[in-house]
Amino acid sequence: MTAQFTHDDWASTAETLDLDALLLDEHFQRIFGWTKEMAGDPRTIVDLGAGTGTGTFGLARTFPKATVVAVDQSETMLNRLRGRR
Ligand SMILES: C[S@@+](CC[C@H](N)C(=O)[O-])C[C@H]1O[C@@H](n2cnc3c(N)ncnc32)[C@H](O)[C@@H]1O
Repeated sequence: MTAQFTHDDWASTAETLDLDALLLDEHFQRIFGWTKEMAGDPRTIVDLGAGTGTGTFGLARTFPKATVVAVDQSETMLNRLRGRR
């Protein structure tokens, strides 16, 4: 048996991810700080399973000289990520 994820399912998951990002902002900021200590000076970062882009934009702020590429299988997620600032 296979299950098909619909646009509404992805939209609902996207809402949840964005709420998580708000609630866990302090935690995410700590993780970005650790990443900076460990990763050196990357030129390219691939955020695989980027969702709505919390990690993508956090990494872009943490590593301003790097090119950050967001990859996600869901067009709904990527559209939401593209609309983000
Ligand atoms: C739990 S969400 C995490 C989103 C984001 N990394 C975050 O921390 O907010 C997992 C994401 O991975 C994506 N994903 C799962 N399998 C994938 C695959 N094989 N290729 C690309 N994206 C995938 C899903 O579409 C979903 O947006």
